Amino acid sequence: MVSLTIDGKKVKAKEGEKLLWAALDNGIYIPNLCALREAWLPSASCRLCFVEVEGKDSPVTACTEPVKGGMVVNTTGPKALRLARTAAELLIASHPVDCAHCLSSGSCELQKIAAHLKIKLKTKRLRKITRELPIDSSSPLFTYDPNKCVLCGRCVWVCRERLGIGDIGFAHRGFQRVVTTFADEPMAKVRCRECGECVTVCPVGALYFKDGRGSNPIIKED
Ligand code: FES
Repeated sequence: MVSLTIDGKKVKAKEGEKLLWAALDNGIYIPNLCALREAWLPSASCRLCFVEVEGKDSPVTACTEPVKGGMVVNTTGPKALRLARTAAELLIASHPVDCAHCLSSGSCELQKIAAHLKIKLKTKRLRKITRELPIDSSSPLFTYDPNKCVLCGRCVWVCRERLGIGDIGFAHRGFQRVVTTFADEPMAKVRCRECGECVTVCPVGALYFKDGRGSNPIIKED
């Protein structure tokens, strides 16, 4: 274990472990969506976990930055916050933000991130562009609403790497990017074993159980 300072607090963490987990384990929240502790190679795609590290000119992503003894980290520096806020605002601009009708409201990480970064879910700063993709209710266990997906990739990772199935993946690029099955088949038509693990790692309400459980009951990193 080595000592480091995060937001003025002296903490201990394993040398080499990613800064994001060191902070969360010590009760310091850093916004994140795409990170999974068990994923050996962080995708670093959501760009929400920026922090400032003393001695570095630019903010770094906490999910990729290894802990070193003596490092001094600021999670609320202006440069880091600016980057994180922009990433969050872009996500919110393409999200329906229909919280009143969403099962994940209250446990949704997008809500939590917006509150933490002090940005509004109904922001007018960026033009709202949402999609109207078909909702897939074919699975007896869960529903998938791609319109609420934040493309974090957690579900793709657990299906492929944890379970070795790989039923879902990313398709298309840019604004058209979507998590879907091979050939865009309904979930019920692919090899899905109805384990529901993809639902439990979804940080928002894109995947939810049909029995009324909201998504994301196990990911509480603060
Ligand atoms: Fe670091 Fe997504 S959690 S980029």
